[in-house]
Amino acid sequence: MRQTIPTKRFAEFFAGIGLVHEALRGSGWNCVYANDIDPKKEAMYKGHFGPSPYFHLEDVWQTNTIVEEIHERPFLATASFPCTDLSLAGHCHGFEGDKSSTYFGFIRVLQALDTRKPSLVILENVTGFLTSKGGADFVKAVCALATEGYWIDCFVLDAKSFVPQSRPRVFVVAFHDSLKSTRIIRQERNEFFGDAWQSAIDNGGSLRPDSLLRLMAKTTVPTGWATLALQPPKQAKYSIASIIDTDNDQDWWDKAATNKHYKMLSDLHLKEVKRRIKEGGTHIGTVYRRCRYNEMRAEVRFDNLAGCLRTPRGGSARQIVMLIHDGNVRFRWMSPREYARLQGAPDFTLADNTIQSLFGFGDGVCVPVIRWLDQNVLTPVYEDELSSATHTNRSKKPPRKIIA
Ligand SMILES: C[S@@+](CC[C@H](N)C(=O)[O-])C[C@H]1O[C@@H](n2cnc3c(N)ncnc32)[C@H](O)[C@@H]1O
Repeated sequence: MRQTIPTKRFAEFFAGIGLVHEALRGSGWNCVYANDIDPKKEAMYKGHFGPSPYFHLEDVWQTNTIVEEIHERPFLATASFPCTDLSLAGHCHGFEGDKSSTYFGFIRVLQALDTRKPSLVILENVTGFLTSKGGADFVKAVCALATEGYWIDCFVLDAKSFVPQSRPRVFVVAFHDSLKSTRIIRQERNEFFGDAWQSAIDNGGSLRPDSLLRLMAKTTVPTGWATLALQPPKQAKYSIASIIDTDNDQDWWDKAATNKHYKMLSDLHLKEVKRRIKEGGTHIGTVYRRCRYNEMRAEVRFDNLAGCLRTPRGGSARQIVMLIHDGNVRFRWMSPREYARLQGAPDFTLADNTIQSLFGFGDGVCVPVIRWLDQNVLTPVYEDELSSATHTNRSKKPPRKIIA
């Protein structure tokens, strides 16, 4: 039987504004299906990518409607499902919350795709995914994937390896059992933490923090764990000065708002600011407001990193820029363009509405992180399958008829 030639096509679930798509399209991945429930995200997606007839505005729980819209077997499916219930802000409801449990809507779609299940699946979420309900939610999530025939890998990547933003995220990569790529190192059956798989995990260094290794060690997945020989990404050289605009045309706050935020600095933070004022020159800080001991505080960092972008729900979730220049201190809200740069998508089309843009980027993935995942995992596995299918088909060609 001839083997189907795989095509470099993917389906993105919880597509948001399309930052996964933005990362993958450069290496030839074609999006054949994108799903999200939020019309504002859809508008930003289409504002950037243009007409996208494959974008399906639908609740992921509408399994039949969704499966009807997927007309082929995509090689890859991505799912950065809502983190709301997996973070402290979401009161740690975990999969009992109605937002993060939409993950199981995605699992239902995989089940319904049956023989058209993608060969690779990636999940992305906050690090709270590993600790939610003492690790039980992570175990439920990976076991659900394994039950659908996938071997599982997991690691943590921080956007700060690529851009000046601290944004650690958990990635689960699921390899379908049918994959032939010899670069996939499967855990030996009945030999927990055996041989080649164990060596590959050990060589992965900081990709897997001890807490994740412990969680993997105590979790038996119905298929097994698998991995590729991966090294952590190299640290990129960057400066936050290339992200933050410092000119006078920005919406710098007036004196009253500036003084108010200056007074919100704690003694420790004020000391850091005063030291830089004395030093002279230009210093860029990024600020979040936080409620500490029932008081609103402004916390500034000068470590060449912005804090993790968040969706601007509530007054404290929007990031602030502090500029110290020749002894003067200025503040302003961080702009949507700066959010886009911090997500590694500097030219992404913004929405007309500022808050809509901040929501889109705050919820999104960091583009160069997904590119790293593509270069190191997705495209290599895809190319192996392509060459295996091409080779099989060539070697099984019927003999040519010799015409006398
Ligand atoms: C973490 S964000 C994904 C962001 C996206 N990866 C990006 O880079 O823009 C989660 C997304 O899930 C969507 N979502 C939430 N509930 C959903 C549901 N029931 N069905 C489909 N999408 C849903 C949200 O609208 C949101 O865009």
